[in-house]
Amino acid sequence: MSDFISSTNKIEDFMCLVTGSEKLSGRMGWLTVSCRDLAEKIFPGACVMVFPSDSNDPLLGRPFAVADVDIEKGELSVCYMVLGRGTEMMMQLIAGKEVRLRGPFGVPLLPVDGKVNIAAGGVGIATFLYFAKKYPEKTANIYLGVPGKGYEKFVDRILELVPEVHIFTDDGSFGEGNSMFKVLPKNMDENERVWSSGPPGFINALRKHYADEKDKLYFALDKRMACGYGGCMGCVVKTNNGPKRLCVDQLLFRADEVADDEN
Ligand SMILES: Cc1cc2nc3c(=O)[nH]c(=O)nc-3n(C[C@H](O)[C@H](O)[C@H](O)COP(=O)(O)OP(=O)(O)OC[C@H]3O[C@@H](n4cnc5c(N)ncnc54)[C@H](O)[C@@H]3O)c2cc1C
Ligand code: FES
Repeated sequence: MSDFISSTNKIEDFMCLVTGSEKLSGRMGWLTVSCRDLAEKIFPGACVMVFPSDSNDPLLGRPFAVADVDIEKGELSVCYMVLGRGTEMMMQLIAGKEVRLRGPFGVPLLPVDGKVNIAAGGVGIATFLYFAKKYPEKTANIYLGVPGKGYEKFVDRILELVPEVHIFTDDGSFGEGNSMFKVLPKNMDENERVWSSGPPGFINALRKHYADEKDKLYFALDKRMACGYGGCMGCVVKTNNGPKRLCVDQLLFRADEVADDEN
């Protein structure tokens, strides 16, 4: 079975009620909204655009992976890192406010033959959390690297959702060591693979680590997105199989199908 299929989701705008807005570290936030209609449409790998203001400024939504879904409560959550204006505005959202979300967009992560290992840097883990929660029998080991001190609350939130995650901290202040690269699987079997997401430096390090097993490493790429439904061509990635749009064609890219400077 393929690791990805193209998306055929119907993408709509939803007014959602903020039910939780939490600072998990100096730069990390966790936003939970209530919207049963949207929550019921979320699949592993799904993303939403968050429109953080009720005016048209900023005009464009900001794309985020859906980190968690609670179908019973009709809630969904995104985990985000504050980078600029849009994410700063998200940090100001408080419970009881309304916020517009567009989605779901993106390409479903499907269970594959065998099991997947997951390697993530920081907030990149959000892409895979719902998959790991929904398909534990298809998930081998999950490795998460974070800077260290100051990120305890972020790590605790991840472990609440998926307790099996192996934590590594750059400063060695907690977790299982200061580098996941000492324990990431190598010489993998035919059905084994690593799905990954994180900042460009992390993806580059993984590409070097798996230079001899490029067909086993898959990564989620991060591009600026304007529309989310395939119209603007802003999120195109050049691959050996032609151009692919992140929002509708493909979520995970195999290391041997994209140029080394795509990360
Ligand atoms: C499919 C997808 C899923 C994503 N999922 C998550 C997620 O789960 N959690 C999360 O924290 N972030 C995620 N991102 C990145 C997130 O969308 C951006 O960080 C966010 O849009 C920045 O908005 P801003 O208004 O704060 O920053 P802006 O003011 O727009 O930009 C501030 C700085 O961030 C840079 N930047 C903006 N957008 C991106 C981007 N997409 N990638 C890299 N750098 C960017 C800009 O170049 C600029 O230097 C995802 C991006 C994509 C495309
Ligand atoms: S964001 Fe417009 S085509 Fe992907």
